Amino acid sequence: MPGTSVIGLQWGDEAKGKIVDLLAEQFQVAIVVRYQGGANAGHTVVIGRETYKLHQIPSGILTPGVMNLITPGVVFNPAVVLDEIAGLTGRGIPVADRLLISPRVHVVFPWHIAEDRALNTDKIVGESIGTTLRGIGPCYRDKYGRLAAIRLGDLVSQHFRERIEQVVAFKRRALEGYREALTAEDLDAELIYRTYRDYGAQLAPMIGDTTTYLLDAVEADRHVLYEGAQGSLLDIDHGTFPFVTSSNSSGVGVSAGAGVPGRWITKVYGVAKAYTTRVGGGPFPTEQDNPTGHQIRELGREYGTTTGRPRRCGWFDAVAVRYTARLSGVDGLALMMLDVVSHLPEIRVCVAYELDGERITHVPSQIEDLRRVVPVYETWPGWQQDVSQMTRLEQLPAGARRLIARISELVGVPVEILSVGPARSQTILDLPPAAR
Ligand code: IMP
Repeated sequence: MPGTSVIGLQWGDEAKGKIVDLLAEQFQVAIVVRYQGGANAGHTVVIGRETYKLHQIPSGILTPGVMNLITPGVVFNPAVVLDEIAGLTGRGIPVADRLLISPRVHVVFPWHIAEDRALNTDKIVGESIGTTLRGIGPCYRDKYGRLAAIRLGDLVSQHFRERIEQVVAFKRRALEGYREALTAEDLDAELIYRTYRDYGAQLAPMIGDTTTYLLDAVEADRHVLYEGAQGSLLDIDHGTFPFVTSSNSSGVGVSAGAGVPGRWITKVYGVAKAYTTRVGGGPFPTEQDNPTGHQIRELGREYGTTTGRPRRCGWFDAVAVRYTARLSGVDGLALMMLDVVSHLPEIRVCVAYELDGERITHVPSQIEDLRRVVPVYETWPGWQQDVSQMTRLEQLPAGARRLIARISELVGVPVEILSVGPARSQTILDLPPAAR
C-alpha cells in the first residue's frame, strides 16, 4: 500500500489542500498526516458550495472515515485547533474521534507571538521576513534551544504549573529588550497556566502516541497521505534562507516530522502553480510587480488564507521548481491554476538565470546572489480560452497542452494532475495506472 506525500514546490500557497482532499477521496487513504509548520499554514478546500479554511488540522478531516494525525514536527497552537474543531463540528463534520495529536508537538505561547511581532519589525537583515506573525520562528527556536520549550504533553502533566513558572521567569529575563512588544498578559504565569491547562483538558481525549499509531499503520499496509505545509523554497535548510519558514517544508521533512522511515513514502506529488506567488519578504526572481502581476493576483484571487495579505505574483520559475522537485523526490506534478494563465495574452516561463553574465540553472545558496539573478524567459502566446469546465486533457487548447509538456520537460517530472479551478470537480487526472 503506498505512502503518498504532497509537497509544495514554490513559496507556499500552491493549493496543496485541494490535492490532499482530492487524493484522500479518490484513493483508499486511511490516514492524513500534518508533520511540520503550524498555524502559519492556510489550506483552502472547496467541496460543493462549501469552502473550508484549515490552519492546523489536516485536510483529511473533510473526508469521512479518514483518520488525521498531527505529528511531532508540528508547532501547535491549541486555541487555533480548538477553534477549528468547533467550526468543523458546527458544520456537521465530526472531529473528536478522527484526530490524534502527538504529545511531542511544541506549543506556541503568547510570548512567541509577541516576539515574532517584534522581530518582524526589527529589520536585522535590512528587510523584514514578513512572517505570518503566528509565533512559528520563536517556537521552533525554543524547541531547538530545548530548555524554554513546552510540549503538548506538558499541558496535561502534573508538572505544568511549575514548568510555566520556570519558563515565564526565564522569558522575563530573555525578552527584556522587547518589553514594549509584550503586554502584561503575555507573561502572566497564572493566567497562562489556567488558559493552557484548560486547552489541555479539552484536547486530552485527542492526545496520543501518533508515532506508534503511524508505524503500526504503515506496517499493516494502510495508505497514509502526508500533507506538506508551506513550500519547498521556504525550507529552513534548503530554501531561500533567511527568507524562509522555520521547518523543513520540502519533501525531505516528511520522515523526521512524521516519525516514519523514508522507505514507507512511495509516491511524492509536487504541487506547483502555472505561475509563482510569494508572501512576505525576500528575493523572487520572476516577480512581476507590474500590471501583469496585478492581473494574475486578481484572476487567481491571490490573497493570503492566514493573513489576508496580497501575494506577490510572477511567472513560473522552472529553475526553482526543478530544484525543489529533485530535492523532494517528486515523481508526479500537480499543476495548479491553469484556468488563471488561460486568460493571459502571453505566458512566460523562466528556464535559466543569468548571474553576472553567466547562465546558470541552479538556485544560488546565497541570498545576495539570488537577488541579482536575471531570469531567462521563454515566451508563449496565450490561448485566452476558459478551461475551467474541461475535464479531459484532449479538450484543452493546443497551447495549454504544449505549455504543460514543456513544464514537465523542464522540471523533469510528468504532470499527473491538472487543476482548472478550486472545486474537486475542476481537476484533470492523468494518473499512471500504478498510482491509482
Ligand atoms: P513564518 O512561517 O510565519 O515564520 O513566516 C516565514 C515566511 O514564510 C514568510 O515569508 C511567510 O509569508 C511565509 N509563509 C509561512 N507560511 C506560509 C504559507 O502557508 N504560505 C505561504 N507563505 C508562508
